[in-house]
Amino acid sequence: MNKIRSVSQIIKPEYVIEGAGVLLQRSIAPKKSNEFDPFLLFDHFAFNDPIEGPLRGFPMHPHRGIETVTYMLDGATTHRDSLGNSGLIGPGDVQWMTSGRGILHEEMPRRGPSGNIYGFQLWVNLPAKLKMTTPRYQEVSASTIPTFERDGMKIRVVAGTIHGITGPVTEIAASPLYADVELAPDTEFIQPVPEGHTALAYVFEGEGVFADQPVESVKLLKFGEGDSVRVKTENSSVRFMLIAGAPFKEPIAPYGPFVMNTMEEIQQTLIELRNGTFIK
Ligand code: FE2
Repeated sequence: MNKIRSVSQIIKPEYVIEGAGVLLQRSIAPKKSNEFDPFLLFDHFAFNDPIEGPLRGFPMHPHRGIETVTYMLDGATTHRDSLGNSGLIGPGDVQWMTSGRGILHEEMPRRGPSGNIYGFQLWVNLPAKLKMTTPRYQEVSASTIPTFERDGMKIRVVAGTIHGITGPVTEIAASPLYADVELAPDTEFIQPVPEGHTALAYVFEGEGVFADQPVESVKLLKFGEGDSVRVKTENSSVRFMLIAGAPFKEPIAPYGPFVMNTMEEIQQTLIELRNGTFIK
């Protein structure tokens, strides 16, 4: 018998301006309280109004102590970093970037042929023992993300396992489950999520019943305790990102694009940035 997780919190994203003047919808941001441990931030960028003019994006900025996960649905993000990596994250692609001890990078959203940009960025924490690890990328093109399609469900699995399908992103400290789930009307989806793991859903299209709670897009939900997540649809379809992982239960010290465990480590990071030793 499944212990279905109820919905313990519903968050309506707020508009914020980030980077060089990019308007986004932010649901969660790094805070000392760390209530979504191991997840730190969830941003949704959707620039679908041509009168917004040229996009300014996110010029060179550093990260340390976290992983940033970019998932594009429409348009693209060009990416370039201090280690010489560069590339394009196109529709359906994922970039899972483990910043570890540090990178400096630039992320510039570009409109697709439809004129739209639509995507998400999730920040996942690293445990103390990996905060200064070597930076690493897992870049996954749309065609290599496996899709489960059956009984009204269409599920793209980025990380973790759903209905026997394992996503291509592996060896992540938080043991994450990250998937794009679409449910047709009159469909039921049940997914095991280990007890003690944090489970979230970012509902971005349509509406569904999460546990016993009807939810309309756009909202971020946090699930309570249990061993499974259940989502049902009635007359509408729903689409959401399912996000789950094991909490690290360590204190965090967030400071802009850095998340360390102590303020001393943040001060050390700022000293390294100033004296040019941040990139090892
Ligand atoms: Fe970044």
